[in-house]
Amino acid sequence: MSLYDALRPLLFRMDAESAHHFALGALETAPAPFLRLAFGAAPALPREVAGLRFPNPVGLAAGMDKNAVALPAWEALGFGFVEVGTITARAQPGNPRPRLFRYPELGALINRMGFNNDGADAVAARLAHLKSSGHWPRIPVGVNLGKSKVTELADAPADYLHSYRALLPFGDYFVINVSSPNTPGLRELQEKDALAGIVRTLRDHDAAKPLFVKIAPDLTAPQLDAILELTAAENLSGLIATNTTLDHSVIPAGRDETGGLSGTPLRDRANEVLRHLRAGTDRPIIASGGIMDGPAARERLAAGASLVQVYTGFVYRGPGLLREITKEVGQN
Ligand SMILES: Cc1cc2nc3c(=O)[nH]c(=O)nc-3n(C[C@H](O)[C@H](O)[C@H](O)COP(=O)(O)O)c2cc1C
Repeated sequence: MSLYDALRPLLFRMDAESAHHFALGALETAPAPFLRLAFGAAPALPREVAGLRFPNPVGLAAGMDKNAVALPAWEALGFGFVEVGTITARAQPGNPRPRLFRYPELGALINRMGFNNDGADAVAARLAHLKSSGHWPRIPVGVNLGKSKVTELADAPADYLHSYRALLPFGDYFVINVSSPNTPGLRELQEKDALAGIVRTLRDHDAAKPLFVKIAPDLTAPQLDAILELTAAENLSGLIATNTTLDHSVIPAGRDETGGLSGTPLRDRANEVLRHLRAGTDRPIIASGGIMDGPAARERLAAGASLVQVYTGFVYRGPGLLREITKEVGQN
């Protein structure tokens, strides 16, 4: 039995968000050598993507460490990279609780967090402090940016730019997140002209860092094709596919909640979106959505993903999931 197998019943007795804060707090304070010892080192499976070196292809997806409080811990647990955020220009509390729901029998979560985060300036100060402390992780750190709730859609480029400027020294790559279902209107920014406006605004300021766009699994084939056109036209570094879904058809009657669904029920659709995108671009695609075990990760890499990310799988399986995936992928 792994350490996480022992801890999980304790965490799952708490409501989902309290368990999240408890676990994050523990990771923030636990010394990295202890985590390495307790969970074991991940094997080296180096990849080079978008000019960056990744010690292995399994990353932590955005949303788990929104405020970048536990970067050394993610490296110590064996992640090949970590994506912090979503971070917005303004600090914001997110939606009222409860806003995170478990469906263990489905291997799923529904969340309507609503980009609760400390804001770009506070996160930048935290990252500057970490850098000067000498504990900066040796894995790539992605920075995922979103629009502040109070900002009008038309003013989105300036809002993203504020965060980009503040966080530019700290991110190895940046992500324009236009795919969360929990900020009203945000997904409209996936429309080609709106998205191009944000991409150009960030690139005009600085074009040196790799820039990805994270998309929703609920886009139609023509919408995906428009994203592919934009990827080429704006010379994006790549795409992250996918965020959570609004398709709740698997949730039993009476148990549904508003928000984005993640985990096992998302697996096939996220894979389908990846295949569609792969057929239309050679650029890196980071796969996210329903990667709950080694075979799901292998399937995604075989379909042409450059890297994979996990969130819900990590909640249900803990660091053992990383070992399983790296073992499975290392054999191929
Ligand atoms: C509680 C929760 C919060 C999330 N917050 C964010 C976020 O802030 N930004 C983002 O881009 N994705 C966010 N996501 C989406 C994940 O990064 C991931 O793309 C999605 O959950 C699908 O992967 P999974 O099935 O492995 O969870 C969140 C997911 C969950 C479950």
